[in-house]
Amino acid sequence: MKNHIFIKNKINNFNEKIKVSSDKSISIRSILLASQSVGISKISNLLESEDVLNTLKTIKKLGINYYKKRNIYNIEGYGLNGFNIKKKTIINCGNSGTLARLILGLLVKTKKKIKLIGDKSLSKRDFSRVIKPLRMFGANIKSYKNMLPIEILGSDFLRPVTYNEKIGSAQVKSCIILCALNTPGTSIINAEISRNHTELMLKFLKYPIKIKKKKKFDQIFINGLHQFKAFEYDVPGDISSASFFIVLTLLSKQSQIIIENVNINKSRLGIVSILNKMGAGIQLKKRRTYNGEEIADIYVKSKRNLTAINCPSKLNSSAIDEFLIIFLVAAKAKGISRFKNLGEMNKKESKRLDIAIKFLELIGIKVERFQNDINIYGRPNLILSKNFEIKNFLKDHRVFFLSCIAALTLGGKWKINDKDSINTSFPDFLKTLKNLGAQIN
Ligand code: S3P
Repeated sequence: MKNHIFIKNKINNFNEKIKVSSDKSISIRSILLASQSVGISKISNLLESEDVLNTLKTIKKLGINYYKKRNIYNIEGYGLNGFNIKKKTIINCGNSGTLARLILGLLVKTKKKIKLIGDKSLSKRDFSRVIKPLRMFGANIKSYKNMLPIEILGSDFLRPVTYNEKIGSAQVKSCIILCALNTPGTSIINAEISRNHTELMLKFLKYPIKIKKKKKFDQIFINGLHQFKAFEYDVPGDISSASFFIVLTLLSKQSQIIIENVNINKSRLGIVSILNKMGAGIQLKKRRTYNGEEIADIYVKSKRNLTAINCPSKLNSSAIDEFLIIFLVAAKAKGISRFKNLGEMNKKESKRLDIAIKFLELIGIKVERFQNDINIYGRPNLILSKNFEIKNFLKDHRVFFLSCIAALTLGGKWKINDKDSINTSFPDFLKTLKNLGAQIN
């Protein structure tokens, strides 16, 4: 079956209200925590993308039942480590780094050996960042070169740990928190700032977790072995998915958009801070709090005269999945934009920093790179007319989304491969674009 699309025209002006896909990080966490709660949790608006469906398949393999009734996922938990595991269980995490890293934290006490595998992209990613702290807790983990496949066998002799998480990775932090739930005593994580959905969800569940805000990091205290009750959760929209529509609107002519009901947790809001520093004028309206998370509608209008940014690297973690699309704005901004310390981008579903530079050069943008820092020479009048083909990007969903937005805002005739990568995080991406008037074949 054909797995590419063609875009041959820029999008015409639009003025619409849209919804984007539900938040992937919160969807995965809500399933994993429901699997550890006591009773039947009810999750509505769960993202039905491959990463999340793989999370559902995972808990099923671990003996947790769920069913979907009228758009609500009902997940039946038997408390902490209440898994029922068969011999020789293999869990396929597909493309999801979040699932693979978080589930390891929950498997530290299992009675049977479990093997974790993943797709080509996930099998190239580094797991030493979670293997190291889990071994400090006493987990039994086998892996070759700290990559998948990984085998884990639970231990009855877990001990609490104090761990300094220095990468600023929410996956690592969350993996350790989940492991600490199964560990007696108080574990402490001194964690560089990263998305905090796991902590907020545990607080909402009244789990004994305490967070002390330090100047540059969070000190998180987790008391292990407390049970928590099943819960209800309505998953909000994903700002990472919204980011592509924010930039589509900014770079189009005479258009505006309202993106409704998006999670605007401060630890995810880097894209708005960065683009507003570049003159985007994005507004957050109807701000409200839901189960500890902040939610809003995002208002964006087309903007000329965007200016370059010297991006403070303290914003990196809160925009880590959005830099690809932020770079497209830098390509159209006046002046030289500077971004620093973006090595983590190369540790994602594909080597995104390397790919971003190739992509920018392909569309005629000058880029300078010094290790993990890059300078992007903006061209406000950039218009494309050539043919472009985007391929060999390890089916990274966000590279596919970037390519579509570039095609629809800059012109040129584009063939973009690996269309099915959208299923990782945003299965309705192309449909949402078409509803705005995009011509996609
Ligand atoms: C995620 C954390 C981030 C992000 C990923 C989702 C999460 O990864 O890139 O898409 O849900 O915890 P890191 O924690 O490795 O930075």
